[in-house]
Amino acid sequence: MENIKMIAPCLFGVESIAADEFRRMGFEKVEAENGRVLLEGDFNMLARANINSRFAERILINMGQFHATTFTELFDKVKALPWERFIGKDDAFPVSAGSSINSTLFSIPDCQSIIKKAIVNRLSSKYRISWFAETGAEFKIRFTIIKDNVTVTIDTSGEGLHKRGYRRNSNDAPLKETLGAAMCDLARIFPDTHIYDPFCGSGTLLIESALMATKTAPGLRRFFAAERFSSIPKTVWQQERMRAQDLIIKNIDFKAQGYDIDPASVELTLANAKKAGVEKYVKAAVGDIHDFKTPDERLLVITNPPYGERLLDVREAEKLYKTMGERFDRAPGKKYFVISPHDEFEKHFGETADKRRKLYNGMIKCQLFMYFKNKGI
Ligand SMILES: C[S@@+](CC[C@H](N)C(=O)[O-])C[C@H]1O[C@@H](n2cnc3c(N)ncnc32)[C@H](O)[C@@H]1O
Repeated sequence: MENIKMIAPCLFGVESIAADEFRRMGFEKVEAENGRVLLEGDFNMLARANINSRFAERILINMGQFHATTFTELFDKVKALPWERFIGKDDAFPVSAGSSINSTLFSIPDCQSIIKKAIVNRLSSKYRISWFAETGAEFKIRFTIIKDNVTVTIDTSGEGLHKRGYRRNSNDAPLKETLGAAMCDLARIFPDTHIYDPFCGSGTLLIESALMATKTAPGLRRFFAAERFSSIPKTVWQQERMRAQDLIIKNIDFKAQGYDIDPASVELTLANAKKAGVEKYVKAAVGDIHDFKTPDERLLVITNPPYGERLLDVREAEKLYKTMGERFDRAPGKKYFVISPHDEFEKHFGETADKRRKLYNGMIKCQLFMYFKNKGI
């Protein structure tokens, strides 16, 4: 079978991490671009990417890329693509999302309706029918137009891949799971790591790190849109789920300890850890950062402290950063990874980070402040 070209959109700043993960999964052709990774592989690799990716937002089939400045051109070039390779005659194919940046074709609703007509036209001539009931599997079509270059894709994930299925409930300011996983990757999680999150909220960082330590695929417990595609054999999903199951390592010396001042968040962390199947490794208790004591053993703190939009909240956050600086003991073997959108985090924390990395929490520019060098205290 000819390889399928895929696009894996990801958060800005996470591209190289996502690309490395795809290489480890066995993809041979992997190319990181701004905000996305380009991939090639067969149906097994498509299922593998969906089930295993910790950092990608979704997996799209790249149906084609071309230049278009008129609706006629858009129609003809979309019609020329092999839609029948994936979409059956009973399937639904809504053109569900689109964007246009610096392009002649800028009306999203008009582009949506032209693309829909072009696909209908193509499939009509292939299947020799003029009416599509669209009662079968749903193939969500997405398009982007950037500087007159059109990319048309079919979504295979359904719900975004950050939705692992364990966090149906969350607290007020949860961290996106894909971003949490990227933070854990940068902090390096091993099967014998002991991580602490003194602001655990709904437990994202504790749970993502436990999934990583046990090599549990984040998508093992959820469903993907492409599981309904009749063009993809069901055995592919069974094989890839079994492969992911076999990779899980059990009974490790991993520990994830969370604290939060809010008892409801602690309950939420424990409930979410259970849903994710990592309750054995995740513990949480009510605790205020002012009382945080670093244990004597080696320690890795990965955390996302509160940060407010309003000035008052920002001032409160600055006070918390100061307290963190006082409570986080910099003795050998102790490492701290803190994400914050505050440009002056280090000033309030009281120490310049050993390394910084720009990451985006959605559209909010943040930095991961990394403290890992021994200070020899
Ligand atoms: C940005 S949220 C953390 C979100 C978390 N990473 C998640 O994904 O759900 C910050 C958390 O810090 C907690 N918090 C606020 N002040 C605190 C303090 N003084 N000590 C400990 N936790 C505190 C809040 O209750 C909130 O759950």
